[in-house]
Amino acid sequence: MEYAHTEIKLRAPALALRPLSAALGAEIIGIDLRQEIDDDVFAHIRDAWHQNLVVLLRDQKLTEEDQVRFAAKFGSPAQIHTKQFVRSHPAVMLISNIREDGKPIGALPDGEMHFHTDQCHQERPAMASMLYALEVPSTGGNTLFANGYRAYETLPPEIKRRIEGRKALNAYDYETAATKRGTRLAPSVPSYAHPVVRTHPATGRKALYVNRLMTVRIEGLPAQESDELLATLFDHQERREFIYEHVWRAGDLLIWDNRCTLHARTDFSPNERRLMRRVTILGEKPA
Ligand code: SIN
Repeated sequence: MEYAHTEIKLRAPALALRPLSAALGAEIIGIDLRQEIDDDVFAHIRDAWHQNLVVLLRDQKLTEEDQVRFAAKFGSPAQIHTKQFVRSHPAVMLISNIREDGKPIGALPDGEMHFHTDQCHQERPAMASMLYALEVPSTGGNTLFANGYRAYETLPPEIKRRIEGRKALNAYDYETAATKRGTRLAPSVPSYAHPVVRTHPATGRKALYVNRLMTVRIEGLPAQESDELLATLFDHQERREFIYEHVWRAGDLLIWDNRCTLHARTDFSPNERRLMRRVTILGEKPA
């Protein structure tokens, strides 16, 4: 008796997901990123990421190559411009307060950071950022994530109407951008204007896309009105119910979606070491 050779398509095992908070985030359980991830499994990871905005994989033991290989599944890893913090791969950057010969070995070394989204001062900001914890302080240095969809959806209709179709200028000047609101930026400061509300290309949902650290003004509004409207938007998007606070453990890998989340960092002791490895993925022009 002959058997017809029918192809049986094996389904990827459903991933185990554990929600991280009511605001956003899920832990993905059962994946070792040192192994090659096949396309079916990666499709599940990407779906979980789109639904939860931030995904966490714990207890990973990753080389730079492992991290870049996984990052590249999301899209093209962005080249790092601050060359002194680049490791052996041009897309890998350290974020660290560790100093050698008095100089930090990583970017964003010390303390608290306001909410922001990565590379929003560029025409094509980062779509995703992937941060891997190598050494963490005993307390503090937590990363906060805010849900940009919820922030937009819960705005009063009158505010939605005022920001509809508007663009805001975002600048890369962490020291002074926030204090320069309403004034002129120095021409040397890299900046780009993006929609105040952007639509996520995969989910079709709208998210608020301004932030306290980098957004300088809403274009086309008088300075005072722009400042007041931005202050209202910042306070709204940073409401506690939209936020998940991640307390790091060494071996954690977090991937966040810069198109629909903001992130910030809590303070930590300068006497404790914090060493993270970051890869960002180039995104599309926000629309
Ligand atoms: C970042 O803003 O990319 C760094 C976040 C962190 O150090 O927790």
